[in-house]
Amino acid sequence: MTQTFTLAVLDVSSADAPPSHLTEQLIEQDAALGRELLGHDDFTGNDAEGVLRALQPGPSRRHWMVVALDRLPAGDLPADESSGLPLVPGRGDVDPGVRLLGSVHCGAPLQEDTERLDLDLGVLPEARRQGVGAALHRAAEDIAHRHGRTLLGSYSAQIPTPDLPGEHALEAPTGYGVLDRRGASVAFPLTQGYRLVQTETHSQLVPAEGLVRCGELQREIEPFVQDYEVVTWAGTTPPEHVEGMCELYRRMSTDLPHGDTERDEAVWTPERVAENDQRREETGMRTIFAMARHRETGQAVAYTYLATPRRRPQAAYQEDTLVAAEHRGHRLGMLVKLAALRRLGEEWPQVERIHTWNAGENVHMLAINEALGYRPVSIEGIWEKQLA
Ligand SMILES: CC(C)(COP(=O)(O)OP(=O)(O)OC[C@H]1O[C@@H](n2cnc3c(N)ncnc32)[C@H](O)[C@@H]1OP(=O)(O)O)[C@@H](O)C(=O)NCCC(=O)NCCS
Repeated sequence: MTQTFTLAVLDVSSADAPPSHLTEQLIEQDAALGRELLGHDDFTGNDAEGVLRALQPGPSRRHWMVVALDRLPAGDLPADESSGLPLVPGRGDVDPGVRLLGSVHCGAPLQEDTERLDLDLGVLPEARRQGVGAALHRAAEDIAHRHGRTLLGSYSAQIPTPDLPGEHALEAPTGYGVLDRRGASVAFPLTQGYRLVQTETHSQLVPAEGLVRCGELQREIEPFVQDYEVVTWAGTTPPEHVEGMCELYRRMSTDLPHGDTERDEAVWTPERVAENDQRREETGMRTIFAMARHRETGQAVAYTYLATPRRRPQAAYQEDTLVAAEHRGHRLGMLVKLAALRRLGEEWPQVERIHTWNAGENVHMLAINEALGYRPVSIEGIWEKQLA
């Protein structure tokens, strides 16, 4: 049977009511897509309150959550002028029979990369191949046009195909990473006019397996790290490290491989660091940071952080790992990762899996992860589409 559907934007303006069942269905959709690909929903960390908070506009990003529903809820719906779509309630009572079929989250950076609109698009398996994905994408493109955004960014994941025949292979322009054109997560962005700019490897570690390796790995790097000290903290950035983090976050935009694309240099102020900390906390994330400092100058030169969502405390994500370009070659990537992992063992013993993502061409970081015991699980395509 052909699926009929209609598009709307989730109204996230705050009110006192609890999250609506549409917001709950968004979480269920995300979890279903995670289970379909990987057999778990570790990446669905936010509860409904966290999702609504994450969609609030902030100084660095504005958001739209466009949803595909089998029908609109009964009653008068206000129009959202910024998207041209009807608004459906993110909070409160909503006609209980309305079903969510898919969604596209659109994030517009406000401080750098202001030509971009970043998309995260998914359709439930039972509603696919009926034009829902394409319609959601058209709505996102329309939002981009309305707000003067000329570059769409997106990403998608697949399990690598063993012995992939050449005619089905799509190689990253960086030369690292090959996707299977036949998968929906590749065929779809190609039909929507995207080009692949980079791939990322998603790898997974069982913390206990990493922790048993820590002692030996620490001994191996000791001769290289004598000029550096490492500090760790959980939660909010301590005042004495705010300045160092401003510099390191800036370096994340300049010292990292971005594949066949360009990114603006990000400006970080103490206020932005505080806002970032607060946002993580409000969206249900707990964090552990490890930072390396040059002993002689006190300069902050490397960092990494781990995050665990309150909704899925058995999962953790190894996020940003950066070594400032001029301090590379001193095993500082390993130094901060070891320190963060040990702290995770102390603070979050319930974590069963740590996930991390690395650009395919970031061979040093992949080697560090392999030594720690991370195993590749899936491959992500990073996509861009230039709008006329
Ligand atoms: C990719 C995804 C969003 C497609 O959603 P959808 O509603 O099935 O997409 P549509 O029906 O609008 O398909 C549009 C076109 O994409 C292509 N396409 C979609 N799925 C495909 C598949 N499995 N194999 C080959 N081509 C496919 C086709 O050209 C299709 O047009 P057609 O059906 O007329 O042939 C959906 O499969 C999904 O949610 N996958 C998991 C998340 C993901 O990978 N998101 C991609 C982000 S870029």
